[in-house]
Amino acid sequence: MAVLRSQAAWRPANDNRRRQLHRFGWRRALRLGEVGLDVRDAVVMVTGSNRGLGRAFVDAFLQAGAAKVYATMRRPDPALFGDPRVQAVPLDVTDDGSVARLAAEAGDTQILVNNAAALTKLAALGAPDIEGARMEMEANYFGVLRMCRAFAPILAANGGGAIVNILSIGALANVPSSGSYCASKAACWSLTQAVRAELRGQGTLVMAVFAGAIATEMARAGNTTPRCPPDVMAANIVEALRRDETNVFPDTSSAATGELYKKDPWALEAQLGRNR
Ligand SMILES: NC(=O)c1ccc[n+]([C@@H]2O[C@H](COP(=O)([O-])OP(=O)(O)OC[C@H]3O[C@@H](n4cnc5c(N)ncnc54)[C@H](OP(=O)(O)O)[C@@H]3O)[C@@H](O)[C@H]2O)c1
Repeated sequence: MAVLRSQAAWRPANDNRRRQLHRFGWRRALRLGEVGLDVRDAVVMVTGSNRGLGRAFVDAFLQAGAAKVYATMRRPDPALFGDPRVQAVPLDVTDDGSVARLAAEAGDTQILVNNAAALTKLAALGAPDIEGARMEMEANYFGVLRMCRAFAPILAANGGGAIVNILSIGALANVPSSGSYCASKAACWSLTQAVRAELRGQGTLVMAVFAGAIATEMARAGNTTPRCPPDVMAANIVEALRRDETNVFPDTSSAATGELYKKDPWALEAQLGRNR
């Protein structure tokens, strides 16, 4: 089943889609789900949804009218969400077997949100060893790669749908106090571009989200940067999904940083590089 807008609202949401429609025609675009993606009645999967932004995503998709949300977590707690549309399912993104079992169980997924991530808050060279960096790369890069590989055929079979990769401003320029985390997010940004290109033909929207600081455990205590509430962040990203946006700066702080990046990426590197 394709994830399409209602008939009255079948329109390409951005110029790129419009160009695709002009080139390939409406019939093919409709078949591939290239004409606007609606989260209403969609089947959504959110990784790392037991807390933080992931948990807020589950609520945001329910509010937007999703038919079902697979709320994945390392230790599933079915009591976490009091809505029968939520299915709490186990997933460790660093484990091939865990990802394969989930893919076998969730063949109706139409929107995949790669949200789960690890952060050591260690500098690349200042860390005592490279184990933290390896763990971040395993979750934040290989974890997303595993999920994209497992779910790309499922999304194709279900009409195209979407993959939403939660990155960070740190993917665009490194914050040295969390140097290895930013490197893993930069790797994931490059992966996002690769996946976007590889899945273009099957009509899957592949979104990169360059989030600023969020008020979750990951960015807690002592941090003086303004932090966006997770429910606001999640709602903004769901809205961007409705508009078929591909590169999203979902909060006030990331929007400002994004403007600087677009104007002068080296200036952003210099600015964030002072944060050691
Ligand atoms: N917080 C920020 O300021 C900020 C800024 C920019 C981008 N982001 C990004 O936003 C996303 C959500 O972050 P958050 O702030 O909500 O972080 P969080 O509160 O620390 O939550 C991280 C989530 O990821 C899960 N997770 C970690 N490793 C996993 C694994 N191997 N397999 C499955 N799940 C795993 C955690 O599960 P457990 O409970 O089992 O550990 C938890 O549910 C992440 O991609 C993060 O990089 C966050």
